[in-house]
Parts: sequence; structure tokens; C-alpha cells
Amino acid sequence: MGTLANKRILLGVSGGIAAYKSADTVRRLREIGAEVRVIMTRGAESFITPLTLQAVSGRPVYRQLLDTDPGLKPAGAGAEAGMGHIELARWADAVLVAPASANFLARLAQGRANDLLTAVCLATEAPVAVAPAMNQQMWNNAATKTNLATLQKNGVRIFGPGEGSQACGEVGPGRMLEPADLASLTSELFTSGVLDGLNVVITAGPTWEALDPVRGLSNRSSGKMGYALATAAMEAGARVILVSGPTSLPDPERVLTLRVESAQEMHDAVHTHVPTANIFIGVAAVADYRPATRATEKIKKSGEKMTLELARNPDILASVAALKPAPYTVGFAAETEHVEQNARRKLEDKKIDLVAANRVGADLGIESDDNSLLLIDRRDATTLPAQPKTRLARSLIQHIAERYHAERGTQNTRRAHRR
Ligand code: C5P
Repeated sequence: MGTLANKRILLGVSGGIAAYKSADTVRRLREIGAEVRVIMTRGAESFITPLTLQAVSGRPVYRQLLDTDPGLKPAGAGAEAGMGHIELARWADAVLVAPASANFLARLAQGRANDLLTAVCLATEAPVAVAPAMNQQMWNNAATKTNLATLQKNGVRIFGPGEGSQACGEVGPGRMLEPADLASLTSELFTSGVLDGLNVVITAGPTWEALDPVRGLSNRSSGKMGYALATAAMEAGARVILVSGPTSLPDPERVLTLRVESAQEMHDAVHTHVPTANIFIGVAAVADYRPATRATEKIKKSGEKMTLELARNPDILASVAALKPAPYTVGFAAETEHVEQNARRKLEDKKIDLVAANRVGADLGIESDDNSLLLIDRRDATTLPAQPKTRLARSLIQHIAERYHAERGTQNTRRAHRR
């Protein structure tokens, strides 16, 4: 079973007897880490109540297209429950429609937006998957087959259906896949394979440069970007080692996380593992200097002034880029001004392959959940617009994979992620 940790899944429920299984689908998605929101069509409400799905998802259920409708703003649900269809479409990392009725598939194939669910499917950039569920005659009907072919051509993933006995008493194809299988297939939407078989080492978080047993120099890096990249690289098929400074984040699933404190410890851990790495991504906000001496006992106050002597830390990124052979090396540049100019200088000074630069301050960058990036290498510059760090991480990994394969002349035959 895959993971959906940190993933936002929008579950669409359309009208069909299999809608009674939707509560279980929500549970299965949440069990493997997803945050789930539910949209119901009017037809679905004949088979399962919004209250049931609200209870299992822990979120108000969305039911109506128009913002002013109380269905989109359930009483007491707070401001965020008032999300419009565009916001819901942006919120989702993936949309799963299960069950997808013959009528829903027809409307989706036509590109209609005559209810909230079809409008969101039309407006989203996230992958959309449908789990058809219908009577076997309806499934075998030429019109349904044409609609399915159109949807497939448009990039919609089709999960199932299975075969077996049906609610109407007939036997044949058209049964919705089981909720556990749907959750597993949904997790596979995020596995691209663009880094299949490659080793990736990533640094993340701040470093802690101890002055004495209780004090030290550090910075406000949260580690979120590096952790999101570690997960995105893992989902892209890589074996990932994350060398992390002190953060409050849990170890990402299926990533080997090594916890260190100081820049020197981070440097040593990186150099233990980087000789077998294909790609190195230095995201950590490494302290440039450390206290020249570390007191073994707590330093007592004395006098009006105190002078700290600092010593230079190793530059981990530059030291990796200087290896022969060096992995494909990616650095970050957090700048408050002249972002592109400074990033280009960093590319040359550190002799790295790619710089991901961002402007820090004004709600973007080091501590926040959202970030935008300017990607610069010797070929060109690409902008990834402001978005949550988890999504940005997937786009950056895609970009790194493309450049890595182009420069190192390797080919990867597995399909790339749709986005
Ligand atoms: O030199 P500057 O700190 O601006 O460069 C930032 C980039 O270099 C980041 O990718 C960071 O992880 C890396 N770096 C490093 N070791 C240092 C300082 C920065 O790996 N001592």
C-alpha cells in the first residue's frame, strides 16, 4: 500500500448504489495519510447522507455550485468551508470520483460544469481519476464506451471497474473497485518514476552551532521545503537520504532520515553517503560560521559586553560539487534582492548544476508554507509560481529529473507525471 501523507484528496461521490461504500473510501484514504474533502452530487444524496461523509472526513461536505448556497457554507463550519469551486479545484492534489455513474462520466466527457463536481473537475490542474460503477448493460453500452475513450484521451485515469454480482441482480463488469484498492491506486497517481533507481541525498532545516550546553546559533528555517522535496523524490522512484538539522517535522515516510545538529556533522553525514548519489540537493540553511570554541559548561554572564569569536563552517554544497565525479548538484538561494543576479553568481561560484532561488520576506520563503522559485542553470531560467511547498517540490523534482537525464544522457522510459 502506498502513502498519501500530506496529500489533499477531493473525493467526488455521484449517484449510484456503490455510494454507500464512500464512507469506507474516505476512511481508507485517511488511513494512508490523506486529508480528504468530499463533494456529493444531488443523486449521491439519495444513497448516503452528507452527515455520514462529514463525520468520517471530519470536514463539511460540499454539495452546491453557487457560493451563496448554504450547501457550500454549512452552518458553523468556519470561513474556510466557504471555498468556491475554483478554490476547491486548487486545493486538491488529486480528485477521485467514486462511484462515477454513467451519467457523471457522460457529463465529464462533454466538459460540462452544471454542478459543483463537474465544475471542479474542469477547473483543476490536479490529476482526476474515476471509479465507474453501474449496471453491466450500461457499462457495455456504446455511448459509455465512447465517453470512457474520450476521458482517457483527456488524461482522466479510470480505476476499474471490477466484475461480479451487481446490486440489480445481474452478473458482469461494472462493480466499483473496493475502497482499499481505490486508496492504493490513488496513491499511485503521485508516483512518476522519473527518478527510478537513482540515489538522492538532500539536506534540510537549520543547523545548530553550540556555544555551550544550552545555547547556540541557529536560524528560522522550518525544513518544510527540504522534507517536501525528499517525499517528492521518493514518490518519483528515488532512494532518498535526508540529512536534517533540528526541526519539529516528523521523518518523511520511506525516506532514510539522518538527524544532525551542526554544519560539520551535516557535512560529514553528507560525505558518507554522497559518493553513491546521482543527485544532491542542498536545501539546508547551513550556518556560515560557528562559535570558535564550545564551552563545556554554561557560560556565565560577566561585564557589559561580550565578544564571540566565530570560525568559518565548511560549504557543504561547494564541497559536493567539487567531488570527482560529482553528483548532479542543486543549491538553493534565499535572496532579499537581485534574485536572478545573485543566483547566477552562486551557480558559478559554487560550480553547481542548478540553483533554485527565491525571494524571502513578505510571507514567502523561509518559514512559510508557500513559496515560489526561479530555477537557473547554464541553459535557461524557469519560474515556478507561488504555491504550497509540497506541490512546488513535485514540480522542482520533475524539473531536476528532466535536466539530470538531459545532461547525464540517461533515458527513463516510464511515463512522466501528468503535470
Ligand atoms: O552561500 P549561501 O548560503 O547563500 O548558499 C546557499 C546554498 O548553499 C544552499 O543550497 C545551502 O544549502 C548551501 N550551503 C551549504 N553549506 C554552507 C552554506 C550553504 O551547503 N555552509
